[in-house]
Amino acid sequence: MDQKQTLVIVDYGSQVTALIARRLRLFEVFCEIVPAHTPLQTILDKKPSGIILSGGPASVHETGSFLPEPALFSAGIPVLGICYGMQSLVHVLGGRVESSQKREFGHAECFVTTSTRWLEGIWDQGTPHTVWMSHSDHIETLPTGFVTVARTSSIPHAAIADEARRLYGVQFHPEVIHTPTGGALLESFARRICGMTQHWTMRGYLEAMTPQIKDTVGNHNVLCALSGGVDSSVTALLLHRILGPQLQCVFVDNGLLRLNEAQQVLDTYRTTHHLPIDDVDASAIFLSRLQGVVDPEEKRKIIGKTFIDVFDQHIRSTGKTFTFLAQGTLYPDVIESTSPSGGPSATIKSHHNVGGLPETMNLKLLEPLRMLFKDEVRLLGAELGLDPSILNRHPFPGPGLAVRIPDAITPEKLTILRQADAIYIQALHDAGLYHDIWQAFCVLLPVQTVGVMGDARSFESVIALRAVTSLDGMTAESYPFSHAFLSQTANKIINAVRGVNRVVYDVTSKPPATIEWA
Ligand code: XMP
Repeated sequence: MDQKQTLVIVDYGSQVTALIARRLRLFEVFCEIVPAHTPLQTILDKKPSGIILSGGPASVHETGSFLPEPALFSAGIPVLGICYGMQSLVHVLGGRVESSQKREFGHAECFVTTSTRWLEGIWDQGTPHTVWMSHSDHIETLPTGFVTVARTSSIPHAAIADEARRLYGVQFHPEVIHTPTGGALLESFARRICGMTQHWTMRGYLEAMTPQIKDTVGNHNVLCALSGGVDSSVTALLLHRILGPQLQCVFVDNGLLRLNEAQQVLDTYRTTHHLPIDDVDASAIFLSRLQGVVDPEEKRKIIGKTFIDVFDQHIRSTGKTFTFLAQGTLYPDVIESTSPSGGPSATIKSHHNVGGLPETMNLKLLEPLRMLFKDEVRLLGAELGLDPSILNRHPFPGPGLAVRIPDAITPEKLTILRQADAIYIQALHDAGLYHDIWQAFCVLLPVQTVGVMGDARSFESVIALRAVTSLDGMTAESYPFSHAFLSQTANKIINAVRGVNRVVYDVTSKPPATIEWA
């Protein structure tokens, strides 16, 4: 194969650096993010077709802020600086960056002042082009060789270029969706300016990950906890393909799964995917520790801790030494904790996907999906041949049915909820609606209401149906079912599930509600 055309993104710590990669990947441009402290020679050794300098929270005037080495700009490689990346480019090449206490944040309108090959056909002259700004410092004087190619009403140098040296800079953020033409600008930089012609797909990602993972793991053993969800399943499949027998999977039944779920996913893992998998039925210990607990956060804590105890015990029982614990952490999980590429971004919130592993377990985390977004994980799963029943299933929370019984959990309540949920989900499949909905489930309400069954009065439980559309779970809309679908489903549940005499539909969006009830 030809040398892989790579665009290197130097991460100066912006919270949205990975979005640059994501946008470029949507255009099938291969890119790799490296931390700001990466030596220039290491970057050049990658033979990049182009380099993007990301934004970042620092100012070029701060002592200790990362700056590119001057030789970067004379290596004959096209460079695009974004926000701080542009300021650092200007600063290093002898232009002047003005400090400012005032911050410009939000939409701005850009006007083209000089035409360039880079903007041709994307931004015309005379029309305002909407961009997203987030900066304090701004460019006062350009380095020799540069011209301004776009301005806004508040800053004179919104985009700059030195066409001869193929060096470019933008004060705004083309990588965020609030800059509608941002994707096209990045693509034009990669294709037109850097001359990148190759088209990179998930197969390419797989090829790139293979030597990296082999290198990291060496001849050690990896344990992967499978939940039946897409993320952990793709992680396991990927690692199994790359590491073979060095991977061992474990599936913990916490007693909080849906009807027949444990058996179904285990069958798929074993029969379709031939994954080496131990199954641990820990439902008794989970349910006994949850006895009488009502508060959902307390339930989450108990479940998280019990998972770790069960893992720990399981690892001991295998008698094997595991060095790595594989997890299906995705980019949105890490976006707020630390810069995924090791760049200097500030920690906003620390994320504990495993609830904090005890030091004594001595396991290093292996997170092969941490640069991917959910839709990319699905593409990777498809590339790996993941069974559609897992690939396309709705998200299911780690604490499972525990958060769908906003009350103390009992085996009887779990049985009612499982039966109702199975009927509801089957009804969605039968009506061809399952894949139009992002997530759907039943909630068993902690209330009994009066009904009539035959001639007798009943006093039984209420099931709430939830179905939402969403892109990423951060916001959601209630799904607009037909009344006929709702009443037929209500009838099916009440006729089949003993202990339920009323069904309601939750029409709240998120916000103000959340998707789960607890
Ligand atoms: P909320 O209820 O916060 O849910 O709107 C957003 C998405 O997250 C899932 N969820 C969880 N997933 N552990 C998880 O692994 C949890 O404790 C948890 N709580 C909610 C929820 O199902 C939805 O997809």
